Amino acid sequence: MTGVTSPRRLAAAPDPAELDPAERYSADELAAVQLERLRWTLHHAYDHVPLYRHKFDAAGVRPEDCRSLADLAKFPHTTKQDLRENYPFGTFAVPMEQVRRLHASSGTTGKPTVVGYTERDLDAWADLMARSIRAAGGRPGHKVHVSYGYGLFTGGLGAHYGAERLGCTVIPASGGMTARQVQIIQDFRPEIIMVTPSYLLTLIDEFERQGVDPRTTSLRIGILGAEPWTEQMRQEIEQRLDIDAVDIYGLSEVMGPGVANECAETKDGLHIWEDHFYPEVIEPGTGEVLPDGVEGELVLTSLTKQAMPVIRYRTRDLTRLLPGTARPMRRMTRITGRTDDMIILRGVNVYPTQIEELVLRTEGLSPHFQLLLTRNGRLDEMTVRVEARTDCPSDRRDPAEAELVRAIKEGVGISAEVSVLDPDTLERSVGKLRRIDDQRDPSPHG
Ligand code: DLL
Repeated sequence: MTGVTSPRRLAAAPDPAELDPAERYSADELAAVQLERLRWTLHHAYDHVPLYRHKFDAAGVRPEDCRSLADLAKFPHTTKQDLRENYPFGTFAVPMEQVRRLHASSGTTGKPTVVGYTERDLDAWADLMARSIRAAGGRPGHKVHVSYGYGLFTGGLGAHYGAERLGCTVIPASGGMTARQVQIIQDFRPEIIMVTPSYLLTLIDEFERQGVDPRTTSLRIGILGAEPWTEQMRQEIEQRLDIDAVDIYGLSEVMGPGVANECAETKDGLHIWEDHFYPEVIEPGTGEVLPDGVEGELVLTSLTKQAMPVIRYRTRDLTRLLPGTARPMRRMTRITGRTDDMIILRGVNVYPTQIEELVLRTEGLSPHFQLLLTRNGRLDEMTVRVEARTDCPSDRRDPAEAELVRAIKEGVGISAEVSVLDPDTLERSVGKLRRIDDQRDPSPHG
C-alpha cells in the first residue's frame, strides 16, 4: 500500500487500473460524452415531461438549440417548487412500469419531493456510489457500516448498493439505537462507516460513554455527508476516531448520495462525477452563470437519468467549482450552506457553518451546539447554546463564552449571545442535524 499517512490510515490512491474509464477521460473526451448525453437528456425531457415542454416553449428554446455545452445556459432552471407542483409522479419521463424504485426528500414543510429510478438509473447510481467509496479509500473486501437512514431517504439504500457493487460487505445498521451500533462496530469490525457527521459525533460520544477509546476501533474511513460540515469538524472527527474523514455530496432530486465525492489521497473538495451530472454555478439573484472559482448556487443537470431527468436544477447549495486534482473531473468546494439555512440577523447573512468553525476553535467547547433565534420587539437575536467538553474545567466556561462572543463579533460581524451548557444536555442527532431552533413569531405584530 502506498501513500499511507499513518499505520491506521489507508488513504492510498487507487491503482489507475481500478478506476472507471470515465475517471481517466481527458477534458475533450469528457466534453464529448457530456454533450452527447446532454442533447439526449434535453430531448428526453422535452418529449416526455410536460413541465419541461412548457418551460422550454415559454423560454423559446428547443432541445436542438443545444449545440455546445455552453448552450445549456439558454435553457430555463428547474426549482424544488416545480417538482412539488408535479407531486407525486408528474416529472417522470417513463411509464410507471419502468420505474423500479421511489424515494422522497425529507421536506420539512409541505409535500415531499418524490423521485423515481429505472433499472438502468439504479445501476448507474450503484456504480457512482461504488466510485465514491473507492475515492474515499474503500476497496473490495472492506466491511462498510451504513448508519445513514434506510427508507425513503436516499442515504441508506444509496450507500448500501454502492458498497455491494464495489465488493464490500455491508452492515445495514441505519440510524438510531446508538448503543447497539457501537456494540456492532466493536463486534463486526468494519473499516468504513457511512453516516452524517453529526450522527458520527453521537456515536463517538457513545463509545466514550461505554468506556471504549474511539481511536482503538476498527474504523479507518468515514464517508460523511447529507448535511453541511466544516474543515474544523473534519479535524475533530479524524482526531477523536483516528480515521480519514471524507465528504460525500448528493441530493434526492438529482439521484441521492454519490453526485460528488472527495478523494482520500487529497481531501481537497469533492470531484463531481461529471460524466453523469453537468454542474454550473449561478448568481442566486440573477441566475447568471458564474465562472469557475466564484462562489454561488450549484445547478445540476442530469446526463443519463431515464426516469426523472432534471434540467438545470437549482440545488440552493452554495459552492465553487475548481479544476480536477486527484481525478480530472472538476471539484466543488465543501458546501458552505444552503440558501435556505441562511440566517439574516440585523442585515448580516450568517450560515451555521461559520459558527461551527468558531465553536470548534474555542478551547473547552464541544462540537454540540444549537442556534436559538428569538425576536425581541423588532430585533432578531441569536443565542449559541453550546455544550462544554466533558474535560472542560468549570472555571474555563466563562472565558470560553467571552471568547466565542468576541470571535463571532469579529469573524461574522454580529452580536450573539453565547450560553455554555453542561455536557450531554442538547438533543443528539441520529441523522440530519437541525442546527437552528427558530422561535421567532412568523407573523410579528407591528
Ligand atoms: O442528503 C443525499 C445524501 C445522503 C448525501 C447521504 C450524502 C450522504 P437529500 O435528503 O435530498 O439528499 O438532501 C440533499 O443535503 O441539497 C444539501 O443541502 C445537503 N447535503 C448533502 N450532502 C452534503 C454535504 C441527501 N456533503 C441536501 N455537505 C443537499 C453539505 C450536503 N450539505
